Amino acid sequence: MERFVIEGGKALRGEAAVSGAKNACLPIMAASLLIRDVTVIGNVPDLRDVRTMARVLENLGARVKLHDACLEIDTAGVSRWVAPYELVKTMRASYYVLAPLVATMGRARVSLPGGCAIGPRPIDIHIRGLEALNADVLVEHGYVEVKASSLRGNRVNLGGPKGSSVGATIQVMTAAVLAEGTTTIENSALEPEVVDVAGFLNRMGARVSGVGSSRIVVEGVASLRPARYDIIPDRIETGTLAAAAAITRGDVTLTGCNPSHLTAVLSILQGSGFQVDAGPDRIEIAPGEDHQPFQVRVSPYPGFPTDMQAQMVALACTIPGISAMTETIFENRFIYASELMRMGADIRIDQNTAFVTGGSPLTGAQVMASDLRASAALVLAALVAKGETEVSRIYHLDRGYEGLEVKLGRLGAKVRRC
Ligand code: UD1
Repeated sequence: MERFVIEGGKALRGEAAVSGAKNACLPIMAASLLIRDVTVIGNVPDLRDVRTMARVLENLGARVKLHDACLEIDTAGVSRWVAPYELVKTMRASYYVLAPLVATMGRARVSLPGGCAIGPRPIDIHIRGLEALNADVLVEHGYVEVKASSLRGNRVNLGGPKGSSVGATIQVMTAAVLAEGTTTIENSALEPEVVDVAGFLNRMGARVSGVGSSRIVVEGVASLRPARYDIIPDRIETGTLAAAAAITRGDVTLTGCNPSHLTAVLSILQGSGFQVDAGPDRIEIAPGEDHQPFQVRVSPYPGFPTDMQAQMVALACTIPGISAMTETIFENRFIYASELMRMGADIRIDQNTAFVTGGSPLTGAQVMASDLRASAALVLAALVAKGETEVSRIYHLDRGYEGLEVKLGRLGAKVRRC
């Protein structure tokens, strides 16, 4: 199994280019199933999850080519509507094929995603939304099966116990595009990835409006046309690289990013004393001075993203004083804290808040990644730890970061993939 060996202590310097957003790319790939023609997607990150989604599409009969950050998906040969367990088990987002398959073939069967290291992750809101559009949904033998002779527009409220759902908003919006009549989605998620998927659907000829607000309106159309579309930059990769610069007290410019998607994170960095200069598509992070601890409460966009909390806890370990990070979206998202503690971090978890007493030096250790963002936190900590850190199970990282060791290496970090 591959691992990273990282020698800490180098301040990062230079420029790094941000890749396309995984969480926009995966549902857009799935939405290519809304037509039986060729879709071309640009700014595609070369990630394990993208390759898994490509295999899911190929298994349905599509032909997929990835070259130079460009994905060509030919769905002319799609004849199957089942996504089996062997493919889906490694990536929850496979469920995005449900909506376009049921919209075009009248049925879809996808292995039910289980929980994952960050806690149970139900799909009841997706199911509720699809049912509201006249689909019959059956959960049986570990699969979710959706059938509809024709999807019909409706008013649907996607609010859940933890707020709106990114996945359910995308699922229902995608299903509604070819439905008869108008669908109004109340309590829709505001995340930039939702807006990007809508941008792609509209490029195909869909009529989706209101994205970026909590009410999305989709007027169903009879058919769609092939499209070419570029994915937005990955805001979580941007934030992770910004945190890497900050934790090493380095001076780094991130290019090809969208700082307006990351204001919650950048303002915490600034408030903590780091110097952040943002242009339209670049961010420069410099050490600044007099670093202060911070208090963060995770919340849906435009709040502080749950996908950045682990990386910021790693950063808090290097700032004298007590920082607090409250997780509100996923129950079990502090597993990585005990690995950071093995590197000398002082972290106390009280219910859903991590209290970090920062300032004592971190030391290299053998640590194990438990999920995608947790792995990033361990890598960041390793960049400043004294001596060598071995981060194992980096297949989690490869799901969501394109060549992280290459990008960090170009900035001067000593990271080896073994
Ligand atoms: C997406 C992102 C993930 C990010 C999360 C929150 C992708 C592939 N993943 O995940 O990286 O951390 O948004 O920003 O885009 N919930 C239910 N029932 C449902 C659906 C969700 O109870 O049917 C709950 C979830 O368990 C969670 C909350 O709602 O507590 C928000 O989840 P959601 O926004 O759906 O996250 P994902 O789309 O799975």
